[in-house]
Amino acid sequence: MDVFEAIRGRKAVRTYTDRAVTDDVLDKVLRAALRAPTGSGSQAWGLLVVRDEASRRDVADLVIAGGARYFSEMRPRGDATPEEHLAACVAYAETILPTYRVAPVWVMGLLVPRDNYPERMQEGGYVDDLLSVAFAMENLFIAARAEGLGTVPTSAFQRFEKDRLRAIVGLPDEVDPVLVTPLGYPESFPEGLPPALKRTFRGWKSLVHDDTWGNTRD
Ligand SMILES: Cc1cc2nc3c(=O)[nH]c(=O)nc-3n(C[C@H](O)[C@H](O)[C@H](O)COP(=O)(O)O)c2cc1C
Repeated sequence: MDVFEAIRGRKAVRTYTDRAVTDDVLDKVLRAALRAPTGSGSQAWGLLVVRDEASRRDVADLVIAGGARYFSEMRPRGDATPEEHLAACVAYAETILPTYRVAPVWVMGLLVPRDNYPERMQEGGYVDDLLSVAFAMENLFIAARAEGLGTVPTSAFQRFEKDRLRAIVGLPDEVDPVLVTPLGYPESFPEGLPPALKRTFRGWKSLVHDDTWGNTRD
């Protein structure tokens, strides 16, 4: 699969099988992730690979619960009480994400501060470090797709549960689990856009400006 196919074929995968990922394939994907550009050459990142069965299960439970909390914040409540609304969102998350519990691997993209920016550079340095973790994770998503593996960048849980996530894998407070993803073979890769996104998704031509702002291609 060439790089353009892998980029086009990468989709947020939310249904996994329990098929194992070999060490060779896993290492190939992890090494590709860490070939990403890194601001100031800092390597202010790390990847935490969760394969232990109990820990994987704990991470999956946390992410599914975080998904439910996300839905409850994002979706209109209508006539339901807050409790009824949350219960409906928990049920929905359990309907669409249960195979997270069988995914054989989870990977956490970590921001690991290196304390290498002088005082006046710290704010910009933090942004660079965060961007660099994102680049590494995108490399991982594309490399995974080329190997037939699914991923989904997941951050919703962390608005609610970052400390519990830290506790599962023993992360110190200063290390930030920016993004996590299951890594596993899907039953199939999604194609096209889900209907809800289709209505609002902007085409590429409306997002490219030639020479001056507003001069888009559409
Ligand atoms: C920064 C970021 C955070 C995301 N967080 C979540 C998340 O918490 N849960 C989830 O299911 N998907 C999450 N996504 C995936 C997006 O929903 C998905 O990429 C988007 O809907 C486009 O679909 P596609 O990736 O299949 O093209 C996240 C994506 C990004 C870039």
